[in-house]
Amino acid sequence: MDRWAGKSAIVTGVSSGIGEVITEKLVRAGVNVLGLARREDRLQALAQRFKSAKGKFCYLKCDLRNEQDILKAFVWVEKNFGCLDILINNAGVLFMNSFEDAKTDEYHILMDLNVLTPAMGIREALKLMRKHKNKGHIININSIAGHQVVIGSMPINLYPASKFALRAMTETLKGEIRAKNDKIRITIDELTVTPVMYKNKL
Ligand SMILES: NC(=O)c1ccc[n+]([C@@H]2O[C@H](COP(=O)([O-])OP(=O)(O)OC[C@H]3O[C@@H](n4cnc5c(N)ncnc54)[C@H](OP(=O)(O)O)[C@@H]3O)[C@@H](O)[C@H]2O)c1
Repeated sequence: MDRWAGKSAIVTGVSSGIGEVITEKLVRAGVNVLGLARREDRLQALAQRFKSAKGKFCYLKCDLRNEQDILKAFVWVEKNFGCLDILINNAGVLFMNSFEDAKTDEYHILMDLNVLTPAMGIREALKLMRKHKNKGHIININSIAGHQVVIGSMPINLYPASKFALRAMTETLKGEIRAKNDKIRITIDELTVTPVMYKNKL
């Protein structure tokens, strides 16, 4: 992890679970992280916990379904960290309902957060990375459900479709980046693990 020291990162969904674990690893390795989420009490608690870490932890309370909030985060990073080296699209949701019971509002939330938020984040990250050094790393947190739909598994309606979309987006972007011949890297992490296991994996 030492090679990451001094870099700057945006991590979405840092207030719990895998985003929190990733953030802790980055900040302790010396990365300056801007963490995004809605629950300010949890963000404040993280800021307190990472006060004396090697890297800085800053946060913006934001709703990632709101494009203006996403744009503000990238403006903040450029102003305060100077550039962006790493974007981790982690925030995601899952609603446990069969298709018969699923609610339209939940479809909108899921598709916004699992597909459109990472897409907007990727767009803004590319602009910033290209403006400053033409290199950087974008990491999309996926799921095994983005690779394989297990018939008869839990009732998770559109979740696998959203993670397949995230994977397709990553592959499309890889092609775009290759064509541009710049040094931005895009990676997709195929999670088959829960946050505690993830902590041990990193
Ligand atoms: N946990 C697993 O076993 C597992 C397995 C495979 C893949 N994954 C993937 O890993 C990622 C993280 O999962 P997790 O289990 O760690 O989730 P989690 O504990 O539920 O955390 C989700 C994070 O997203 C944030 N978030 C949700 N809606 C938001 C919104 N509208 N605006 C801003 N932030 C929002 C939440 O913060 P606030 O509520 O404070 O806003 C929270 O920090 C997801 O993409 C998920 O699909 C997880």
